[in-house]
Amino acid sequence: MSRLAGKVAIVTGAGSSGKVIGNGKATAILFAREGAKVLCADAVEDRARETVEAILKEGGTASAFRADVSKAADCKAMVQAAVERYGRLDILDNNVGISVRAESPACAPTRARRIRPRRRRWSA
Ligand SMILES: NC(=O)c1ccc[n+]([C@@H]2O[C@H](COP(=O)([O-])OP(=O)(O)OC[C@H]3O[C@@H](n4cnc5c(N)ncnc54)[C@H](O)[C@@H]3O)[C@@H](O)[C@H]2O)c1
Repeated sequence: MSRLAGKVAIVTGAGSSGKVIGNGKATAILFAREGAKVLCADAVEDRARETVEAILKEGGTASAFRADVSKAADCKAMVQAAVERYGRLDILDNNVGISVRAESPACAPTRARRIRPRRRRWSA
């Protein structure tokens, strides 16, 4: 199938943290199987590289990019890299998430900022 032929995608958290394949890695591989060129972004570059290797082995197109998506500058650089490498950007899979336990309301403001950072303005 080639439902994403000609499309360029970024998958954030495209590596896997455990032995089992994670959502980000699986998504990156499936996007590539559907014909997309995939920028595999991860805070741990080696994890992104492992995903890229899996995609290249299947004949797909992908490259790794180190980016911490909690940092606006990294996000900007990530988008620029996709456009520079592949000429466009069609799909952004915001796969990275965090899990926090609800303990006491006193923790809430700090924790909430990690999940929803203060609004920042940045342009591509
Ligand atoms: N896998 C599941 O079944 C499942 C189910 C529900 C929710 N989730 C959630 O979805 C999210 C992604 O899951 P996954 O399966 O891809 O997890 P995963 O742990 O296998 O992979 C996540 C990747 O994201 C990277 N990462 C972490 N913080 C980052 C950051 N700030 N910037 C860039 N990269 C970062 C890690 O290095 C890791 O390689 C997680 O928040 C997870 O809790 C996963």
